[in-house]
Amino acid sequence: DQTLKQTLLDAIRTIPDYPKPGIQFRDITTLLGNPKAFRRSVDELVHPYAGTNIDQIAGIEARGFILGGAIAHQLSAGFVPIRKKGKLPYDTVRVAYSLEYGVDEMEMHKDAVSSGEKVILVDDLIATGGTAEGAVKLLRQMGAEIVAACFVIDLPDLGGRKKLEDLGVTVRTLVEFEGD
Ligand code: PRP
Ligand code: MG
Repeated sequence: DQTLKQTLLDAIRTIPDYPKPGIQFRDITTLLGNPKAFRRSVDELVHPYAGTNIDQIAGIEARGFILGGAIAHQLSAGFVPIRKKGKLPYDTVRVAYSLEYGVDEMEMHKDAVSSGEKVILVDDLIATGGTAEGAVKLLRQMGAEIVAACFVIDLPDLGGRKKLEDLGVTVRTLVEFEGD
């Protein structure tokens, strides 16, 4: 609905030329700090799944942890952290993923999800989709069923949503910024 979208758009701060010239940084800290906007974001992302059986919420470090924890609580699901390499203490599965410049690696504990578990992937924002694609690969490698991937912000011009949909993932987003 338009008023919800506007509430969320108004709560997201844009920093021009950060972290480098020409980039408009979409800053969700103002949304997280706004009690109404934070709650509405979580409620809106989870509402199709309320009352369904979701085993785990997988959140992507770092900003996906904040929303993912709240969503896991709301759905009475577990929470699985997907982290940048070298941060998790136990045995992990690892995948390389593409960033705007170059590649990095992310990891998940090898026993964090079991085969057949229903998982929702959560992050704050989808841009090129490289990060989320890496997470999808890790989860599927462990036999998870990815029910959906949820993001507050979509930057549609960067093609991430399409990339995930081409992998057969249902994508749910709340607001778009065109032209980023
Ligand atoms: C940002 C954002 C997403 C990712 C989206 O995270 O929070 O995780 O980029 O980009 P993509 O769709 O092009 O892969 P960032 O890597 O800046 O790290 P952070 O969340 O730890 O701040
Ligand atoms: Mg991130």
